[in-house]
Amino acid sequence: MSLGNLEPLFTTEQLQHRIQELSQEILASYGGEPFICVGILKGSFIFLADLLRTLPVEVKVDFLGLSSYSGTESTGVVRLTHDLKTDISGMHVLVVEDIVDSGLTLSYLLRMLGARQPKSLKVVALLDKVARRTVDVDIDFVGFPIEDHFVVGYGLDLDEGYRGLPYIGMFPPSAE
Ligand code: IMP
Ligand code: MG
Repeated sequence: MSLGNLEPLFTTEQLQHRIQELSQEILASYGGEPFICVGILKGSFIFLADLLRTLPVEVKVDFLGLSSYSGTESTGVVRLTHDLKTDISGMHVLVVEDIVDSGLTLSYLLRMLGARQPKSLKVVALLDKVARRTVDVDIDFVGFPIEDHFVVGYGLDLDEGYRGLPYIGMFPPSAE
């Protein structure tokens, strides 16, 4: 078993610092109104756990499971693997995503959640691979825009591995 030492793209400290800033932006945008964080499984679970711990205790949480990747390539077909337990109609909903790549996953889920009549629907994504976008989607809060690298760790996987790395690393490891 390897601890998978990869070149960090973002260290634990950089991630924590940016999450504090995102949290302030998010709270300011809701102006004290209650909201629910909807974490997109599985990739967002660590980001959501850290973000949630910077938010007021009234903030609710639920999870939605979606899957579109196999290896390092998206299959292009989004599957719902786990639905919300919460009826979000009339609620302010903040979708929490790990990374937006083509935008297919996000556009699919925004359409699906929008149909459930939330009071508002916003998105926070830790990482944004802007250059890869094939579908136009609005992201309200972005942690870091990144180049077209495959990244792992801090919840993000390669075939279900690497999720537990405490930082974001680039895959494959550089051959220097
Ligand atoms: P999209 O539908 O192409 O935008 O892909 C979004 C989903 O693909 C994300 O929620 C991730 O789960 C996964 N994904 C995209 N890029 C990466 C990456 O670099 N590493 C790991 N997972 C990724
Ligand atoms: Mg994801």
